[in-house]
Parts: sequence; C-alpha cells; structure tokens
Amino acid sequence: MQLKFDFNNMMKETLGEKEGLDFQLFETHKDLLDLAYSKVMDNRGKGWQEWTNLPFYQQDVVKDILETVKRYQDYDNVVVFGIGGSALGTIAVANALLHLRHNELEKNVRKFPRLYVEDNVDPERMQALLDVIDVKKTVFNVITKSGTTSETLSQYMIIHNILKQKLNDAKDNIIITTTKGKGTLYDIAVKEGYKVFDLGGGVGGRFSVLSPVGLVPLALVGIDIKAILEGAREMSEACFSPVACENPALSTAFLQYISMRKGKNISVLMPYADSLKYMSDFYCQIWAESLGKATDNNNNIVHAGQTPVKALGVTDQHSQVQLYTEGPFDKVVTFLAVEKYRTEVVIPSAGDYPETDFLQNKTLNDLINYERKATEFALTKYKRANFTITLPEVNAHTIGELLQYFMYQTAYCGALLDINTYNQPGVEEGKQATFAMMGRKNYEKKLEEINSLKKDERFII
Ligand code: PA5
Repeated sequence: MQLKFDFNNMMKETLGEKEGLDFQLFETHKDLLDLAYSKVMDNRGKGWQEWTNLPFYQQDVVKDILETVKRYQDYDNVVVFGIGGSALGTIAVANALLHLRHNELEKNVRKFPRLYVEDNVDPERMQALLDVIDVKKTVFNVITKSGTTSETLSQYMIIHNILKQKLNDAKDNIIITTTKGKGTLYDIAVKEGYKVFDLGGGVGGRFSVLSPVGLVPLALVGIDIKAILEGAREMSEACFSPVACENPALSTAFLQYISMRKGKNISVLMPYADSLKYMSDFYCQIWAESLGKATDNNNNIVHAGQTPVKALGVTDQHSQVQLYTEGPFDKVVTFLAVEKYRTEVVIPSAGDYPETDFLQNKTLNDLINYERKATEFALTKYKRANFTITLPEVNAHTIGELLQYFMYQTAYCGALLDINTYNQPGVEEGKQATFAMMGRKNYEKKLEEINSLKKDERFII
C-alpha cells in the first residue's frame, strides 16, 4: 500500500481527554470491531458486496473495454450520460488523472478525446453541450444500472434523436452500460444493436466506479485502467487485515463511528490538490447515501449517518476553516495530502520588496504543503478532530488505492452502525415521485399522494 494514514490528531494524546479518543477503544470495542469485520469479510463477493471482486476478476472485461475503445481514439469527444454513482467516480478519477485543462488542450497534445460527464438535466446545460460538440465525432456512453432513471433516459432519447437525424444510424456513436437483461435501457440497447457493457447484479451505483461504469469512459480518454485496478487490489489486501488498528479502512471507519457517537455528525473531506477536488464529491455520495439510514438491521429507528462536506485546500482556508476552528465541535476533518505534485512552480523575485522575500525562490509546492500543515496545526491546537491520508503522488495506482479505501471504509462503517449500507430508499422515493409527476403509467396512486400535500398560502410570500 502506498497511501499513508495518520490519525494522531484524533487521539487524546493530541486533543486531550474531552475531544480526543483513547487508543484503548480498539480493545474495549473488540467484539464490535470483530463483528463488523466479519460482516464485511464473510460476505465479500456476495450479494451487494460484489464490488469487492472488481479489482480481482475482470480480466475479460478489461480486454473487451480496451478493444472497444480503440475504435474511438480519433473521435473528438466522449460524453457520459449518467447520474449519481453512474457519474461521480468517473468525474473524480478523470479530474485526478487527466491534465487539469484536458478539454482545452490542442488535439495533438491531448491525444485522446475531450471528456464531458453530464450528470444533470438542466436544459441550459444540455444546450450548452450541444453548442460545443459535433455529435458525429462524439461517442456517448449512456450509463444507468437500473436502466430506468428518468434523467439518463431523457438524455439518451435526446441524443438518439439528434444522431438519427444527422447520421441516420446512432449505433456507432452510442455505448450502453447497464444491467444485462434488466430495465428499459437494456431493452432499447438490444433492439438498436448498441454495444452493451454489463455492470453486474451485485454492484450498487456508488460502488461501481471500478466496473465498466467507470472503466469504459476512463479508458476512452486514455487512462490506465489496469493500473487503477492494481492499486485497488493492493488497498483491498490492506483492508483484509483483521487487526483493526492496522487496517486503514476499518480503523478510520471505527474512529468516525465513535466520533459520531460523541456528536461529531459532520465529516469534511479536504484535499490539498485540485486534481483531488472531485474525490470529495465521490466521497460525499458514498458516505451520505450509504450511511444515512432511518433504521438499523433490526428495524430500530436510528436515523444514522454523518453529513459529508467538501472543502478544498487551500481555497477553503479563506472560507470554511474559520468555522472548523472555532465553531461547534461537531466535525471530523480528513485531509488528503500529496507528497509530490506532478509539476513544480518556483516563485520568482518581485524586485526589491523585502516584504516578499519569504516567498521568493520557494515553490507553490512548498506553499500548498505548508498551508496544509498550518491548517492541520490550527485545527489540532483548537482541539478539532482531524486525520491525514497522504498520497506519495497522484497517479492511476494511488487513485485505485484511494477509491477502494473509501469503499471499504464505508462498508466497515455501515457494518459498525449495523445498517443496510447498500440500499437508498430515500433516493428511490424521489425517483418514484418524478415518474408520477411526469405521467408514467401505473404511478397514478403516487401522484394522488403528492397532490394531497396542500400548500398553505400563509407561508408563501
Ligand atoms: O448509488 C446509487 O445507487 C445511486 O446514486 C445511483 O447511482 C443513481 O441513482 C443512478 O442510478 P442508475 O445508475 O440506476 O441510473
């Protein structure tokens, strides 16, 4: 494992008795930790935990993906239509591993198509996309596990119609990723003869980035998907350790769990790298949708969960950090640090201005790292719980490790909370209500229920 985990600033030795945690907790909660460990490990590769197999058993899938993407190397654009778990992993990884201005580079420098991940149905956004791409030179990867999500189906219908008008045939420009044998999009794909990638039955949306959901679009823009899977395998091995305090995912899940019980109901992820900015969106979704549950596995009302918040270092030092340092003691901050950035920028002299001497001949690399250490120091001094995950550098291997860590951390935390990590009834409720209001057949009862909620005019200004 190349990532390093430092949770000193969670412990009582650093934060003191009131805010800090006792290392003994790993001992006193050994039964709970063992139970959570076996809930995850005994079900590895089974049911909704099929995601744990993805780094290990996808040789044929990877071969098929790499063969397929060859056809699209000369295309101008890759557009992903998908939402939630069908989009956020791709956004996070692409932003981490592509040039930060990938789409703006000249084609001969970029070498691979531009990438647009369209995870909203704002009509202005759709129009804006159509204004900048030539659909004939674009491959559209339509991704939906259920095959029925209104947003993704609508996007597909719009693009299919345009392609039909412009090319007569949409077949070569559309790749479908969905659950084989299930859902509207699968039926369409079979009839229209599209290339289909299967994401497998037991892989939930937010745990699917290492399935074709993420691998297809990432390979289309030239990202080394084999190296990502290799990193994920290495992290998996670390997360198999039964010794809780040596297992990065189980130990940090446990520290978050204990923190939640002490009222720290907010989890901030603060990467100090623009390349990792969208890892926070990935984390926010997996942490929120997996752990935010009304009942536990015995149907007790628990209203579990910890609200994830995204912050970016150093940008948010000038925005949110004041609150983190002096506001309520209700947060755990996770820093993502990078040891070696992929470039170095030296700060030159500004002339004879002694006030600027301290910056002169230093690098932006020094500055961002000292700023991270300074924020860590300030938070710790004010007794705010925080821990740091360090990536030696951002590359396909370390990103694979990080993704797999987040997935295992969530799985272990769900097991500690004894909730169903893999369902999302709150999201489904919204999906059903959308079907009803858009007039889908058999949703008449749901529409009645929605219409029965009357608005009181007194409360509308
Ligand atoms: O994690 C999840 O299960 C959700 O966020 C889904 O990914 C999201 O709702 C999109 O669903 P689908 O892939 O079925 O279109």
